Amino acid sequence: MKIFVIGGGGREHALCWKFDQEGHEVFCAPGNPGIHEVAHVFPVAVNDRKALLDAANQAQPDLIVIGPEDPLIAGMGDMFREHGFAVFGPDQSAARLEGSKSFSKDMMKRAGIPTARYQSFSDPGAAKEYVSAEYGAGRSVVVKASGAALGKGVILCDSAEDANVAIDGMLVGMEFGEAGRTIVVEERLTGQEFSLLTLVSGQEILSLPVAQDYKRIGDGDTGLNTGGMGTYSPVDWVSDELVRKAEDEVVRPILASLADLEIEYRGVLFSGLMVVDGEPICLEYNVRFGDPETQSVVRRLGDGFAEALLACAKAEAIPEVPVLDGAVCTVVVASEGYPGEYEKGRAIEIGELLDGVEVFHAGTAIVNDELLTSGGRVVAVSATGADAEEARAKAYAGVGGVRFQGMVYRKDIGL
Ligand code: AMP
Ligand code: GLY
Repeated sequence: MKIFVIGGGGREHALCWKFDQEGHEVFCAPGNPGIHEVAHVFPVAVNDRKALLDAANQAQPDLIVIGPEDPLIAGMGDMFREHGFAVFGPDQSAARLEGSKSFSKDMMKRAGIPTARYQSFSDPGAAKEYVSAEYGAGRSVVVKASGAALGKGVILCDSAEDANVAIDGMLVGMEFGEAGRTIVVEERLTGQEFSLLTLVSGQEILSLPVAQDYKRIGDGDTGLNTGGMGTYSPVDWVSDELVRKAEDEVVRPILASLADLEIEYRGVLFSGLMVVDGEPICLEYNVRFGDPETQSVVRRLGDGFAEALLACAKAEAIPEVPVLDGAVCTVVVASEGYPGEYEKGRAIEIGELLDGVEVFHAGTAIVNDELLTSGGRVVAVSATGADAEEARAKAYAGVGGVRFQGMVYRKDIGL
């Protein structure tokens, strides 16, 4: 079939690569230099709706897959559906699960979904009173911008003073702009985390193999939170039973609650889960594939992934997608300084790759025939192996061939 992917990051490269592997004809906007190898690219900005619609009309795809959250939150799913396209990606009404943490938490509470205790605020004084009571009761908090802030609007606080600084930063200093006009203050939990990506076709679901993401920039989980520095799959400590529990307690109830509001979900629901005392607790929902989870997850799937997405887009029964044996490890190579400020425009070399190793592009651009860095997360090197150790060794061998000035990556992905 013909598939049109919207987006131009590592996640979209992995999706386009997978569809190409399955023998589909792939279109993408705006794409990136890696995507050029596997898709017809429309050089159209991801927020240029009119041009995207023109591109879709030209390509006449059987399926449109919207990669990033921003267009989904802005209602791009609705737009393409109104024009008769089969779209994988929720409508604007459902994308609020990611677009507003305050809405999302309220929905979780209504549905009785296990999640951290919380309150939403737009008044700094009231927020600080709540924080003071929480620390008084021996609990610690996390302060979150309610709106989408590229994964950066979450501040883990060690003290009430930290929390008050975060509150003032968001509500008074407007550090996250509109996204931080409302904040959520929630209990800080501790536990291991995993990402569950579930394909959703109305009330029908199919969870993909579990991946674990490394969110902090530094080895040993130190330093600032990023969009994700690497992933691996499978995740041995996440049992099938834990996944079923997460589906029953976190995924199905939220879909039922949306249905109560007459909202039908068609796309992927990404549950960010923390395991506390053996129980999956929902930290957040995202309404799109994870990045760099997708770079690992698609490589664990046999043929039939695109068919499954098409079924979701059409609200039909989701066909099984075979899960391959073996393991995948994906290591993100970033620009020095990320997730803060970093230089762009540095020449990139990508060496010879072993069998089973793919380099997914994220922040790259071609200028005068030269491949240059253009973003914080530059490429993700993803390798399959018979087991986790082999996948890891091959991924790092691939990273060894990548060269640009100021490249940084974590050395402990999959350890
Ligand atoms: P979120 O965007 O809400 O998933 O938050 C990003 C990251 O912040 C999560 O992956 C966690 O590592 C951390 N986090 C979020 N909420 C909490 C919480 N209630 N307790 C502890 N850590 C959290
Ligand atoms: N890797 C985390 C995310 O995509 O939000």
